[in-house]
Amino acid sequence: MVVPSLTPLSKDNVAQLSSLNSALFPVSYSNRFYEELLAAPADLVRLVFEDDVLVAAVCCAVDGDALYVMTLGVLAPYRERGIGTALVKHVLDTADKSPSCAAVGRIYMHVQEGNDEALHFYSKFGFSVKRKLMFYYTRVSPPHCFEVEKVIRPHLLRSRNAPEGPESAVRHNQSAV
Ligand SMILES: CC(C)(COP(=O)(O)OP(=O)(O)OC[C@H]1O[C@@H](n2cnc3c(N)ncnc32)[C@H](O)[C@@H]1OP(=O)(O)O)[C@@H](O)C(=O)NCCC(=O)NCCS
Repeated sequence: MVVPSLTPLSKDNVAQLSSLNSALFPVSYSNRFYEELLAAPADLVRLVFEDDVLVAAVCCAVDGDALYVMTLGVLAPYRERGIGTALVKHVLDTADKSPSCAAVGRIYMHVQEGNDEALHFYSKFGFSVKRKLMFYYTRVSPPHCFEVEKVIRPHLLRSRNAPEGPESAVRHNQSAV
């Protein structure tokens, strides 16, 4: 398997990332979403190009004690070649080693109900369903999703049942499916 090279986000390729996410996900992301990605620590976003075509990307944000995978997707013709695996490995490596993730105790993402391929995919890396969120999406059917997580540093987790504090900067209604 060829390991794809992972490219950081820049002003020169952010428009391509926006087009890719529009093609992959039924949730739309605002200009502010992309401005915040450009301002974020560089290792939280990675892109995969093939012959100058953007074919895959992952976008994360630090959310309190967690690393939140907001989007992770590969264009259909480029799937089952290990690109998704390379992106997840980058996320795991970043959560483990990046200074921006020093306070991160877990990694999580939202997977739309019915997306069994993604649930199976993430389970291979040790992620499991934490809970089902009913009517999480407002303009997508089915509207429910699963929060899928992997705990990496249990001692860093805040109270598991505490509500999210106001410091949570991630807008959860702009989430990947
Ligand atoms: C889920 C998703 C990211 C997986 O991406 P991918 O690039 O196909 O992932 P990989 O190629 O690394 O692995 C997928 C499968 O291909 C297999 N594979 C990997 N390399 C392969 C190769 N060279 N030849 C054949 N199969 C291969 C993997 O073993 C895996 O198989 P399995 O499901 O039977 O275990 C992709 O399907 C996708 O973008 N889906 C739509 C968006 C989405 O749902 N994102 C997740 C929620 S944010």
